[in-house]
Amino acid sequence: ALAAIDRQDRIRSANTAFLRMFPQVSIGSSIHDRIDSPERTKLLEAATASHVETATYRGRWDLKTDGAARTFDVYSAPLEIEGEYGQILTLVDVTEATKAESALRRSETLAAVGAAAAQLAHEIKNPLGSIRLGVEMLREHAVSEDATKTIGLVERGIDHLNKLVVDVTQFSRRRKLDASEVDLHELIDSSIELVADRVRDKQTPIEKDYAAQDIRGTWDSEQLREVFVNLLANAIDAGEPKSRVEISTELIDANSGPRTLEVIAAAGNPRARISITDHGVGMDAKTQARLFE
Ligand SMILES: Nc1ncnc2c1ncn2[C@@H]1O[C@H](COP(=O)(O)OP(=O)(O)OP(=O)(O)O)[C@@H](O)[C@H]1O
Ligand SMILES: [Mg+2]
Repeated sequence: ALAAIDRQDRIRSANTAFLRMFPQVSIGSSIHDRIDSPERTKLLEAATASHVETATYRGRWDLKTDGAARTFDVYSAPLEIEGEYGQILTLVDVTEATKAESALRRSETLAAVGAAAAQLAHEIKNPLGSIRLGVEMLREHAVSEDATKTIGLVERGIDHLNKLVVDVTQFSRRRKLDASEVDLHELIDSSIELVADRVRDKQTPIEKDYAAQDIRGTWDSEQLREVFVNLLANAIDAGEPKSRVEISTELIDANSGPRTLEVIAAAGNPRARISITDHGVGMDAKTQARLFE
């Protein structure tokens, strides 16, 4: 969006993009009056507050246009109007660029955190091994029931730390796909078995609604099972005791239906859709925004 503004802060000319953004503005009007929102008036006043000798960056502004928030970089450059000082104002829509930047920054932060965590896990793993050996030796020499009990506590602590360390190391290493021919329904059944403890504790009815035909594909069964187990565990956790959890499967045509998730798939290849539905507390917007971290 572009506008030429004279010494008396009047708008002398503007392109359609500018007039669309500032619908209350008309050619010849002052930037101080009749601008529809205070934030827009503030932007225009700040961007023209001082004389500039060369093209100058006036900062980044968030403006609501058509109900959506968009981000603009604002520049002003000197422009002579009827022999007097004036300036030309340029607003550049950088909404997409800032989104891409912050996504990149977030993934870089996550990668850095992952690397630090992996390093820490590695440093913990080695001494943990010798602590475990030492405690095992102590167990042989324990003389009282109290001592044996304490050693049991220590060992449980070590097991817990060890599990954490293994989790972190696996998490920060992107695992290779180990794909093989898999039957989806068998895979889901075996995932349900792995959350049997939770199901029993919460008395969760698991309702299966599988597609009538077998669904087979070339998948990494280990990693998929992990996905299902995590989703199931979260679904069970989210609900009250005895609150239902439903699992359904469906074979879908790659070219039909809503494409909420962009999946790289050869055109025409069928896909499987697996839905795990709970009736629990739901997720607030903040949790949803971090869904794929
Ligand atoms: N089905 C769900 N309903 C409501 N909130 C959920 C659901 N699934 C996940 N969440 C929210 O997202 C958070 C993160 O889930 P995530 O599985 O990563 O960790 P967790 O369940 O808290 O711990 P962990 O799985 O490591 O034992 C949960 O703590 C919960 O607040
Ligand atoms: Mg979880």
